[in-house]
Formats: sequence, structure tokens, C-alpha cells
Amino acid sequence: MCGVVGYTGTRQASEWLLDALQTLEYRGYDSAGVQVVSPSGNLHGVKCAGRVAHLRERASVANLNGTCGIGHTRWATHGAPTDRNAHPHLDCRGRIAIVHNGIIENYQQLKRQLMMSGHTFSSDTDSEVVAHLIEDAWAGPASGNLALAVRNACDRLEGSWALAVVCADAPGTLVVTRNGSPLVVASTEDGAYVASDVMPLASVTSRVVQLQDRDVATLSPDGSIAISDRDGRVVEHPTAITIDWDASAATLGGYSDFMAKEITEQPEAIERLLSGRLGEHGIELDELTLTKAELASVRHVVIIACGTSYHAGLAAKSAIERWARVPVSVEYASEFNYDEEYIVDDNTMCVIITQSGETADTLTAARRMKGMGCNVFAITNVLGSTAARESDGTLYVQAGPEVAVASTKAYTAQMVASYLLALRLALAKGCMTREEVVKHFHDLERIPDLMREVLKRRWQDKQAVRFFRNKTSSLYLGRNVNSATAFEGALKLKEISYLHAEAYPAGEMKHGPIALIEGGFPVVVVVPADHVHDKTVSNIQECLARGAAVIAVATDGDERVAKLCSEVLWVPRCPNELIVPAVSVLHLQMLARYVARDRGYDVDKPRNLAKSVTVE
Ligand code: F6R
Repeated sequence: MCGVVGYTGTRQASEWLLDALQTLEYRGYDSAGVQVVSPSGNLHGVKCAGRVAHLRERASVANLNGTCGIGHTRWATHGAPTDRNAHPHLDCRGRIAIVHNGIIENYQQLKRQLMMSGHTFSSDTDSEVVAHLIEDAWAGPASGNLALAVRNACDRLEGSWALAVVCADAPGTLVVTRNGSPLVVASTEDGAYVASDVMPLASVTSRVVQLQDRDVATLSPDGSIAISDRDGRVVEHPTAITIDWDASAATLGGYSDFMAKEITEQPEAIERLLSGRLGEHGIELDELTLTKAELASVRHVVIIACGTSYHAGLAAKSAIERWARVPVSVEYASEFNYDEEYIVDDNTMCVIITQSGETADTLTAARRMKGMGCNVFAITNVLGSTAARESDGTLYVQAGPEVAVASTKAYTAQMVASYLLALRLALAKGCMTREEVVKHFHDLERIPDLMREVLKRRWQDKQAVRFFRNKTSSLYLGRNVNSATAFEGALKLKEISYLHAEAYPAGEMKHGPIALIEGGFPVVVVVPADHVHDKTVSNIQECLARGAAVIAVATDGDERVAKLCSEVLWVPRCPNELIVPAVSVLHLQMLARYVARDRGYDVDKPRNLAKSVTVE
């Protein structure tokens, strides 16, 4: 969701800004723009609806000479995705330019006031008010001090923002600030940089500083960064974090798309996650800030997440309840936030699952849980993300950067990370001996090879694509922990192929969705060799009896399923039922990708979606 970038230094700003915007494309956007301060002290920019490639074409024929500038990819919230609503936005005199990520909640009131005092607006966005507020502050007591002008303007804002600001009358100075929306800065020999996340910075440095809410940072061409906190006090030694992703991790490296690359990277991601986790006393999970006694007293786990991460939470529920015997509730963050009567007690532990660590709904939920006195444990993929900084403990899943908007490797890594937590809890609560925990851990260690085996069978998914041709809808079914697999498979299909997919626990089908089934209707059934196998086979029969085209996801050697279904996506036998979702979902990821490509869609950048949903 909206990407903010900025640079001041010795190189041509537009070159890095355009590259950086391209790197941020994965966040999801519908328009883009850049603005630079020219050597003669004027602002020059280009902006347009559509892709960064289009912006690049426009930039190549514009005069963007200058070593200080800002850039933006916009995901429309207020105002249509048009050229005029694209950022940067300027003040009335065209001397101040801003880019903004977030939502200015009181913009209507501010806009009215500004218009009454003579300001003219050029867009329908909420963001533009910020340029005019800075214009007023610059003309008043903050004249000559861009950081103060930005701070004064922000004092009038309600909502969330990550802002980067340049002013033609303060050439070389770049001021940035945030409240609720992420922003990282980096100082290098050739200047100072800012971006919404670390991805575009990986090509210039490995050390970045995450700004705190209401920090205001002034970036100068010599690379220095002066930060003052919400009270205006100088931040002497801001904590820098080291990015452990090399820049090449975010390149295609020979793959046709990032989704293909990220699906293939899953075995290595799980190996990284599990490495060093087995210790003398069982599972090493120092990230948990609860003592063994506190863990032993946990009586209720509340998992909060959105989308794909919510599905990882459903699998986590099965593992925690089965292994640690603790009841688990899995909540959609957006629902939880408005459930005023939610009940927690001293023995409730909260787990948030968020690959980006920046999902606004999940962060709000975590803050609310903390406010209710719960210990909040985050499972995330992004180092130094807001979720990580604000939680009591954080487990990084180390899946590496996920560029495709549809999550794949972060999903399975989050699931396996939650299994580690389940084993740790099981040991602390005395539900398992160390030997049992070790055995389960060794089962987890088999996941990478099982995944590799599924990846070799991608031809099966390619073959199953024909079932979806000329169809408008489909059904995904699974039971128990594999209802999560069905939900995730259906979500992947919807996201990237724009084909409707309904997911249901298989036994629920007869209570409604069965009415959808007619001759040739595609039904994907996850039917591994587990304790509900017979029941799920019966559901397959119910579908076939109504003429459905069933695609089964089944365990190698399952003769019954082989006889019933003409199309089977085979999964190698897994050592434990709870392992199946982490392995079988690879087929459904690949199936969704093949269907989307068959329909001619860009699998990495699905329409309307943002990678990091930073607004409520
Ligand atoms: C789907 C997908 C989304 C995210 C959801 C939460 O492929 O990626 O459903 O899972 O927006 O995002 P995070 O995990 O960053 O909180």
C-alpha cells in the first residue's frame, strides 16, 4: 500500500527514486510520481496513473535534473487513481512538494478551512492538505525551518501518515516524519535515503533506522540525518538495524515471476526457520518473553491476523490445541477491533501473525490486547517492523522478502513458526516430554524435503488447469486442519486469477454450498490420509454424484481417491497430520498460479490488492 521514497545527496535523485519505486511495486499501487529540486531552486516532477514503467517513460523526456527529491506509489483511498490524484502534491505556490502514505482523517475539515483562507486545491485526495498546511507554517513562525514547518503542520493532522517533504526554498533538505505508517531512513557516503520499507534501501546499505511515531528527521546531502522525537528532543543515537536480505533476494533470478520464485523458495525458508531451534531443554524460543512458569499458566491463546496470515492462525490453533492442550481462538483483526465485549483474563496470551508486520488492523488489535494486559507475541517476516517493535516478543520467520503480492512462503513459514510455539507451550505445560517434543521437531524438519517432492510434481497442477477453463466459480473443501488449506487455496485462486472460489469445511458443504454444484463445476478437495479421510471421501462422492469435476489433493498410494477422481494432486506421505497443510498447500499455490497465467494475468501484481495494508 502506498510507497514513499526520498533522497538527498550527490547522485541524480530521479535515478534512484525510479528504481526504488519499482522495488516498492510489490506493495500494490495504481499511480506513481516523482519530484526533484532543480539546481536553480525550482521543483520539477512527473506523475501519472498506471505503472512505474509508464512513469519512467514520462521521466525520460522530462527535465528531472536534481540531487534531492521524493517519489511515491499510490494505492487510491480518497479520489480515483488518476494523474491528478497521483503524488507528489504541491502547495499553492508550487514551492513545497509532499508524498504521503496513510489517511488524513480530518482532511475535509482542514480542506474547508484552508480553502476559506484562500488555498486552491488541485486534487481530490486527503493528502494534499498537508502541502497547504506546510505552506502556511512556512509562511509563519516556521519560516526557513522546514522540519519545524512539517512538525507544525502535523500537529493539526488526525489519522496516519508517513510523509516526505521537499521545498524549493530549502534546496538539498529532505524532511520526513511518520505516525502509524512505516518509514525507514539510511545514511550513506553518497547521501541520505528514506523509504517505506527496507527493500529499496537494500541496494545502497545494510544499516537502516526505523523512525518512531512522530519523529521528524531532516536528511542532508552529506548523508547526515538529524532526528527529533515527538517532544522535539534530539534523538542522539537512533537504533540502527542490519538488513539481512541481500539486494539480489528481491530480483527474479531467472524465474518468470516472483510468485514462482517464492513458491520454490519454501523448503529453504523452513530450513532457515528451524535451524538452531532444538536445544538441550527442547525448543529454543528465546523470543518469547514469558517465563516457563508464565507459559505454564497460559489457559487461552488468542491468535489475531488477517487474510493468509489468518489461515496460518487456523493451522496454529490445531497444533496448539492438540499438542499443548490450550484452547485457542483465532480472530480476524478487523472484527476483533470492534468487538467491545471481548473477554480476556490474566492467563490469556495473544499471538499476532503478520508477514509485513505493518497491517493496520492487526497492529490496532495488538495494541488493544496490550491495553487489556495481555502479553503479545508477534510472528512476522519483516525485521524491525512495527509489529516487532511493539510486541513483547517477536519470532522472525526469516522467509526472506516476499515480492509477489499473494503470500506463499511467508504463509508456510508462519505456520511452522506457530508449530514451534505450540511445542514450546506443550513442554512448558507438561503436555509432552522432551523426547516427544524432539520427535515432533524432527517431523517438522522433514517438511523441506516433502515440499521439494511436491514442487517436482508441478506438472500435475498444470494439468488440472483445464478444469477451470471457461468457469466462473469453484469450491474448495477440506476438514479439520486442512480446512485452513482449503481456505488458503481458494484465497490464492481468487487473488490472482479473479475466479470466484468458495472455501468450506467439507462437512459443511451439504448445508448450503452443495447447491452450487452442477455438471463440470470445479471442486478442489483436500483429502489426505488422516483420521477424517473416510468422511472426506464421502464428500467427494457427494460432489461427483452431482457432476462436479473433482480435483483431489491426496496422499501417495490412496487407491480409493485414485479410483474416484480423474485428477489428483499427489502429496507424499507426511509423518504427522499437522504437517500436511504446510506441504499440500504448495499444490494449491501452484494451481492458482497456473490458472491465473492461463487466463493471461500478471500473477505478481493482482488488481486492487496491496502487499502491506497500512490503512484500516
Ligand atoms: C494474501 C495476502 C493477504 C495478507 C493480509 C495480511 O496472499 O497476502 O491476505 O495475508 O493482507 O497481511 P500481513 O500478513 O502482512 O499482516
